[in-house]
Amino acid sequence: MMIRTLRSVLQFRRFEIDPVKRSLAKAANVGDLRRLAQRRLPGGVFDYVDGAAEDERTARANQDAFARRHFQPRVLRDVGKVDAGTTVLGKPVPLPLVLAPTGFTRIADPQGELAVARAAARAGIPYTLSTLATRSIEEVAAASGDGRRWFQVYVWRDRGLVREMIERAKAAGYDALMPTVDTAVLGRRERDVRRGFSLPPKIGLETIIDGALHPGWTWRFVRSEPIRFANVATSRSAAEAHGDGSTAVTLADYVNTQFDPSMSWADIEWMRSVWDGPIVLKGIQTVADARIAADEGIDAIALSNHGGRQLDDAPAILDLVAPVADAVGGRLEIYCDGGVRRGSDIVKAVSLGATACLAGRAYLYALGAGGERGVDHLLSLLAADVRRTMALIGATTVADLTPDLVADAR
Ligand code: GLV
Repeated sequence: MMIRTLRSVLQFRRFEIDPVKRSLAKAANVGDLRRLAQRRLPGGVFDYVDGAAEDERTARANQDAFARRHFQPRVLRDVGKVDAGTTVLGKPVPLPLVLAPTGFTRIADPQGELAVARAAARAGIPYTLSTLATRSIEEVAAASGDGRRWFQVYVWRDRGLVREMIERAKAAGYDALMPTVDTAVLGRRERDVRRGFSLPPKIGLETIIDGALHPGWTWRFVRSEPIRFANVATSRSAAEAHGDGSTAVTLADYVNTQFDPSMSWADIEWMRSVWDGPIVLKGIQTVADARIAADEGIDAIALSNHGGRQLDDAPAILDLVAPVADAVGGRLEIYCDGGVRRGSDIVKAVSLGATACLAGRAYLYALGAGGERGVDHLLSLLAADVRRTMALIGATTVADLTPDLVADAR
């Protein structure tokens, strides 16, 4: 009897031999993925991903703004079937999510952008490739097959280079162009300043020690091909003229010498002359600029303060969603990013008027935590989160997500 009772309660989980699977199985949320990434990545790499500008107040405010709002859940509404699908730029997506562009993704995992693009394609989520990517426009297109991909652009002083990249993106089947407009100069990321962090990471005494403490990362890093700005490095003359990242530079030096701080609305007009698909302006932070974007006939804006990495004390992104939706909703699509860590965050943003959220850091943590499988894991967590949250607030479709479901303050 006793043995039978014991046997019925004593059930050991089968031991998972694969260490990545083992740790991902225990990662219940983005916070867990972040902690895993912190363990696996050298300190300088983790800080580049995790850090933000100056006192990092805006980065914290982005997350706090989600925590500050609570749901006003409706009950008894038959949530037997929940569909989180919606459309972005006229095409269906399984949930209101787009993966944001991130620079130097290969520092988190050697597969880098390819891993993220493949995972996004499997989940049916659009993936945005950064101009400062470490895999090229064409490599990512080949890896992501039928997946939707967007291309983010910064404006180099040399417009010829920008035009060439836009044309390559068009030829490679990218379906939206995303100029980032919050980076006239680079924000001061003080963790990177303290560490003297460069791209690619330099091998100095500190990095040797850091590398020795993270042998898995170091082994993968030294065995894979050198990290380059893959979109700049495709021609020798471009690489020489613009730097391809093959010699270590600080991001601040690179951006401040190569990017054009005189960029203005006229450049957006110019982009529309070289790109005939939709344009998503990323980095809008006020109602006033959202209005200009709508007046200019821009297809979509991404409310973004670059995850708090540019101007510290820029407004928390979620706080902008309702005012911007009131001012221009219906004239263009509104995305937002910054602090998105859970599906419930996405549900709050969409309820307040966003079409979709973008997420960047969340997938970099996942990539650092478990490579491509980490990103698969993250996307399935977020999808399940969104559906569960919708069920718990009484919404069965994205059209049911309305501002009355979310309230300010506690
Ligand atoms: C690049 O865009 C960064 O935020 O580091």
